[in-house]
Amino acid sequence: MADFKKSVVYQIYPKSFYDSNGDGVGDIRGVIQKLDYIKSLGVDYIWSTPFFVSPMNDNGYDVEDYRRINPLFGTMEDVEELIAQADKRGMGLMFDMVFNHTSTRHAWFKKALAGEPEYMDYYIFKDGSPDAPPTNWQSKFGGSAWEYVPALQKWYLHLYDVTQADLNWDNPRVREELKDVIRFWKDKGVKGFRFDVVNLISKPGVFEDDTVGDGRRFYTDGPHVHEYLKELVRDTGIQDMITVGEMSSTSLDNCIRYSNPAEKELSMCFSFHHLKVDYKNGNKWELMEPDLLKLKELLETWQVGMEQHEGWNAVFWCNHDQPRIVSRMGDEGKYWKESAKMLAASIHMLRGTPYIYQGEELGMTNAGFTDISEYRDVESTNYYQILLEEGKTPQEALTILGARSRDNGRTPMQWTDGEYAGFSENTPWIGLPENFKTINVEAEEQDPDSVLNYYRKLVALRKEYPVIQDGSIRFIYRDQREVFAYRRVTENQELLAVNNLTGEEVTLAEPLFCKGSRRLLGNYKPVPGQECIKTLRPYESVVLIREY
Ligand code: NOJ
Repeated sequence: MADFKKSVVYQIYPKSFYDSNGDGVGDIRGVIQKLDYIKSLGVDYIWSTPFFVSPMNDNGYDVEDYRRINPLFGTMEDVEELIAQADKRGMGLMFDMVFNHTSTRHAWFKKALAGEPEYMDYYIFKDGSPDAPPTNWQSKFGGSAWEYVPALQKWYLHLYDVTQADLNWDNPRVREELKDVIRFWKDKGVKGFRFDVVNLISKPGVFEDDTVGDGRRFYTDGPHVHEYLKELVRDTGIQDMITVGEMSSTSLDNCIRYSNPAEKELSMCFSFHHLKVDYKNGNKWELMEPDLLKLKELLETWQVGMEQHEGWNAVFWCNHDQPRIVSRMGDEGKYWKESAKMLAASIHMLRGTPYIYQGEELGMTNAGFTDISEYRDVESTNYYQILLEEGKTPQEALTILGARSRDNGRTPMQWTDGEYAGFSENTPWIGLPENFKTINVEAEEQDPDSVLNYYRKLVALRKEYPVIQDGSIRFIYRDQREVFAYRRVTENQELLAVNNLTGEEVTLAEPLFCKGSRRLLGNYKPVPGQECIKTLRPYESVVLIREY
């Protein structure tokens, strides 16, 4: 399989990708049927979010059995065929390992609830009276992070939903169980792994109230996290496979350690700071226009910091937890196409492994839901209530969800302009935006100038130009809010990526000399005879190369 530094990964959310059996829910056979499409993008790996047996309270991130397939998605034979068929096309499957917590329906938790001490030690149970949780920590989905079990007279920790109980990684037996899960899937031919919120696995020795926050500072990049990751990777022999850790509220220093090859932990990290630049006061549920200077500064800090210390970033705008980037930082209207392309190029020319989330390559937009009954996500429905309790009107709360809900990224993949966007023959489990009539695979396949074909070009360029894979990176026009631009350099190639992040024309602080450069890509027609770039049109993006 391809070296992860040269690779591009495509992310699938199977529930919304393609429904092969007409029950309104995407499935594994649906993914198999669309493998040629995925291959046509030029990607090397496919990361699929979980399809293991689960009550689906958090759409599969609440795993009941790590080794069985949820019948909603298919069978073990289907999964084996998926792996084999992807392999045949030169693509590797990356499976999603949700190891910070299990569903409370997992056999281990059931035994813990039955009072078996051995299994109680698989989780984090604490004594306490029913009216006083052990700490004031908050669940990431709202409310207390603790749930009381009257029969045991104890509380258990759940950093996410009440049905997602945190595992106790300090227990060596837990670590052995999880290693076995990895070996199981590795033996089936899986080529890599994505580890869900893996920087939260190591909890502190002492549990105390957080007087300034929600508790995250005590368990984020916790005391033994590096040690546990090293052990997991070493004992399962996955050091040469592609691995990515989802790092919640992490730090650059920790991500350098997670991804520096000398540490023998992971290939790369997802970090999210650049996707919080539109959170007012750091609060996801308070809207604000994106702070572009902050965005540039964060991307630069992480790009340069990782390069200087041999770390490696997963670069991305979208996933199943994020609103669609074109709605968020681009333009759904007049400059839809230009902005979708600019956002794509601005990420794909960076140093790191790019991830494309299903539908992003079409320029898919947010869902446009206007009624709470349209939402499915547990975080969204919880926060709707919380926002109302805080005094927001239903309309205000819906406006916030409209911009921030994870369901924005979970609407069905838009395949055609036909019924349900060609995703299913029956009503999908979640609604979809009206714009599928124009934004869909079928239409974009026929348009050489489509967003889809632009993504294909970006992926192909990465393969063709070593400077995109491993050139050093330095940022230019750093003080100019609207302009996100950088240089990538190797001994014999120099690449220049210049992007206008706004819908206004901008004049560059200094003209950019292109003499001697060749234009690799751009989302507008070049200005004939132009020797230097002085202005950028709305959302204009240009990629230039010079070879020595
Ligand atoms: C991160 C996953 O991406 C998200 O969808 C999930 O809700 C949480 N981790 C909890 O597993």
